[in-house]
Amino acid sequence: MNQAAMFQLSYGLFVLSAKKGQKENACIVNTVQQVTTTPNRITVAVNKGNYTHDMILETGEFNVSILSEETPFEVFQRFGFQSGRDVDKFADCDYYTKAENGFVYLSKYANAYISAKVVATYDLGTHTLFIADVTDAEVLSKIPSVTYTYYHQNIKPKPEQTKAKGWRCKICGYVYEGEELPSDFVCPICKHGAADFERIE
Ligand SMILES: Cc1cc2nc3c(=O)[nH]c(=O)nc-3n(C[C@H](O)[C@H](O)[C@H](O)COP(=O)(O)O)c2cc1C
Repeated sequence: MNQAAMFQLSYGLFVLSAKKGQKENACIVNTVQQVTTTPNRITVAVNKGNYTHDMILETGEFNVSILSEETPFEVFQRFGFQSGRDVDKFADCDYYTKAENGFVYLSKYANAYISAKVVATYDLGTHTLFIADVTDAEVLSKIPSVTYTYYHQNIKPKPEQTKAKGWRCKICGYVYEGEELPSDFVCPICKHGAADFERIE
């Protein structure tokens, strides 16, 4: 089997936002799909370690901001490289507003947003698959949606030449220093697994 085939799958990138009481939070995901049109239903796979995961599991609601090609790296850092358990990701953020459901969406950088209510969950081990009905949706701009490939080629800064030996996370650039990367290793920054690391000499 050639594992590299998995990298040929095409994905979008999204800000998945949740709310619990007064606490707003959101994380970056690449796993939003529309799975049926009648009913209008989407799925999203969220890592169980994410704070956003716990919030959605508890409240059963979320918004998805569909990111455009104009999204700067700062947005990925803000929502994808730190946890809402440790920081308030919206504290100094001036590019969000609220949808009718009271949940946040990005007023800039997103070309559309979707509001959804969870109708079922599926335990995937490391992740929970949320299956949800679309309750609202709006188009915000005509700028094309960003793909995972576009993010890697045009948005993520090119890795600096480093003298460190070890393994680099292809998603966020985190470097694990050591000869062998444990097969169950999970990136402490972006939560991707060992399969997303490359050897650096
Ligand atoms: C490009 C990119 C794609 C990501 N895709 C996913 C994903 O599909 N599912 C997921 O659970 N986390 C994904 N993450 C990781 C979360 O965004 C990250 O762990 C975040 O810090 C979680 O924040 P939270 O604890 O506030 O929810 C991705 C991160 C990046 C940078």
